[in-house]
This record gives sequence, C-alpha cells and structure tokens, in this order.
Amino acid sequence: MQLLKIYTAPDPILKQVSEPVAEDTPAIQQTLKTMLETMYHAEGIGLAAPQVGIHQRMITIDLQRRGRGNVSAEGQPLFLINPVVLESTTEMSVYDEGCLSIPDHYAEVWRPARIKLGYQDLSGASQILEAEGLLATCIQHEIDHLDGVLFYDRLSALKRNMIIRKLKKTQKQAEEGTIL
Ligand code: CO
Repeated sequence: MQLLKIYTAPDPILKQVSEPVAEDTPAIQQTLKTMLETMYHAEGIGLAAPQVGIHQRMITIDLQRRGRGNVSAEGQPLFLINPVVLESTTEMSVYDEGCLSIPDHYAEVWRPARIKLGYQDLSGASQILEAEGLLATCIQHEIDHLDGVLFYDRLSALKRNMIIRKLKKTQKQAEEGTIL
C-alpha cells in the first residue's frame, strides 16, 4: 500500500478548512484505510485528512495500536466521517499533546473532558459516540485539524511563535543538509 505524505507545520495546507464528505464511496473507504496505515507507520494515534493534503472531513484514530513497534497487536481503529461535537462538558482536562504535523514538540492543552460526538462510520451509517479521557482529547484535536486549527493555536502567542520558529529552523537545516 502506498503511504501518504504527512505535511508538517507551518505549511499553509494545514490551515485550510476541510469540506464535508458528500457521499460514502469506495474511494473514501480506501482513502481512510490508507490514512490508517500511514498513521500506524508514523506511530500516531490520530490522523486527520488535511494532514495528508486531503481537505475532506475524515479522521482515523487508534489509541490501542501505536505503530511499527506494535503492529502485531489487535488494533481498534475508529473511522470518523463528518464528525460533529454535539455536547461537551464544562469540566476540562489537560494532556501533553503532540502531533504528526508538529514533529518533536509537545505542549499541555486544555479541552472539555467529555464529549458526545455524531459521525458517519466507514459504511456511511450515522453513529453517536460518548468519549472521555484520551479519546475525547484525540477526537477534539483531530476535529481541530479539519478546521485548520493546530494544537499550538490553542497556546499563548509566545509559546506558539517559539514552536513555529523552531520548526522553521529545523526545516531550513533539513533543506540545507546540515542534519548529519
Ligand atoms: Co495533529
């Protein structure tokens, strides 16, 4: 299976708002399966379509399976098409978040602790999911991607600019070939 390229910040492709998936098609199902494999290969627990340059509202999540080192374990993949947060608690929780599009950077982000989510599954059926803990955080992080929002957009300008500066520096070094 050909894996997809994961775009990294501050690429403007990540800031574009994604369109709803109009219709469940074999092409959509195939894209989601390829996204899942790309996510496993990159050792992520969540991936949103715009991270691979596809601006449609689709997400893959698997909290159980953390990538190459663990590929034999049973995964529990979750495919979310057109996810919408229907309810969220005023109670907040904090996680040290990372992102496949923001390599090597982590920061504490506060989000509602529990959510009720509506979405369509891989077969196009409408589903309701209640999530808490890491799953609730992961879903909200991925939905942010669909709206062109990255976790550092939820930090202070000072912290955000520091991360962006370091990302640009790392990318410049990679282009100039100074990473040995
Ligand atoms: Co992310």
